[in-house]
Amino acid sequence: MSLTIRTIGKAAIVATFMAVLGGTPVLAAGDVAHPHEPAQGWTFDGIFGRYDAQTLQRGYLVYEQVCAACHALEYVSYRNMAEPGGLQFSMDEVRAIAAAHQVPAGPDETGAIVDDIGMLLTRPAIPADFIARPFPNDRAALAANGGVLPPNLSLMAKARANGPSYIYSLLNGYEDAPHPDEMSPGTHYNPYFPGHMIAMAAPLAEGQVEYPDGTEATVEQMSYDVANFLMWTAEPRLEKRKRMGFQVMVFLLFLAGLLYASYHYVWRDVEH
Ligand code: HEC
Repeated sequence: MSLTIRTIGKAAIVATFMAVLGGTPVLAAGDVAHPHEPAQGWTFDGIFGRYDAQTLQRGYLVYEQVCAACHALEYVSYRNMAEPGGLQFSMDEVRAIAAAHQVPAGPDETGAIVDDIGMLLTRPAIPADFIARPFPNDRAALAANGGVLPPNLSLMAKARANGPSYIYSLLNGYEDAPHPDEMSPGTHYNPYFPGHMIAMAAPLAEGQVEYPDGTEATVEQMSYDVANFLMWTAEPRLEKRKRMGFQVMVFLLFLAGLLYASYHYVWRDVEH
C-alpha cells in the first residue's frame, strides 16, 4: 500500500518536471519540401520570444504594397498596430495609415449606399476600422484571380505547419518547373506548396518596396519581414503569453521542489 502511494508520489513529481521541460510535438512531413527557417532565426521563438517592432513595420509595408492587392487580413484593425508588443506605431501614424484607405461608408443622409453610377459609397478609414479588403466579396476575388481564391492571411501563420517558416520559404521558393509540360495552366512551380503547383505567381521581386529605414529590399528580406508580420496578425498577444508561460514554469518548478521536500518530510520516519 505505502509502496503504491510512494510510487504515485514519485510519478507525480516526474510528471511535473516533464510538463515543465516538455517540447513541441514533431510534425509529419509530406512530399513537399520542408520549410526552412531564415538564417537569422525568428525573434519570437523560445520562452523569451518577442517581436521586433521595426521588422513588423517593414512587414506591414510589404503586405500593404504587395499582398494587399489580392489578400485580405480579416480581424485586424488599424488601431491594433499601435498596441504594445506589436508594431508600435504611434496613434498619429495609425490615423495617417488608416486615412489613406477607403472603406465602405454607411448610408448617406438620403439613405443611399451607392452613388449615381452605382459605385459603393466609401469614406477614409479610421483606426477602429478593419484593414481594408482588396475585394468587396469572394466572387469578385475569384473573378480577379482566375477562379482561385487568395486566402485571408491573418491566421495563415497558424493554419500551416511551421507557419512563419512556410510563408518565408514559399515566397522565397519559386523555381523553374522541372517538367513545364506537366504544369496545370495558370499555376507556378513552388516545391513548398502541396502539389508544387500554386496559382499565385511569385509576388516579390528585388527592390519591390522602398523601406524608409534604408534596409535593402531583397526578396529574402521582404519574405522575412512579411512572415514576421503575418505571425503577429495570427498571434498579436504572443509576448504576453510567453511572459505568462514563463511565470507558470517558475511556479511549477517551485511546486515540484515543494512536492519533493514534502515527500521526504512525510516519509522521513519510514524505514526503507
Ligand atoms: C496577384 C494576386 C496575389 C498577390 C499580389 C499575392 N498573392 Fe498570395 N495567393 C494568391 C492566390 C490566388 C493564392 C491561392 C493559390 C492557390 O491556392 O493555388 C495565394 C496563396 C497564398 C498563400 C497560401 C498558400 C497555402 O498554403 O495555401 C500565402 C501564404 C500567400 N498567398 C501569401 C502571400 C503574400 C505574403 C503576399 C505578398 C508578399 C502575396 N501572397 C501576394 C494571390 C496573390
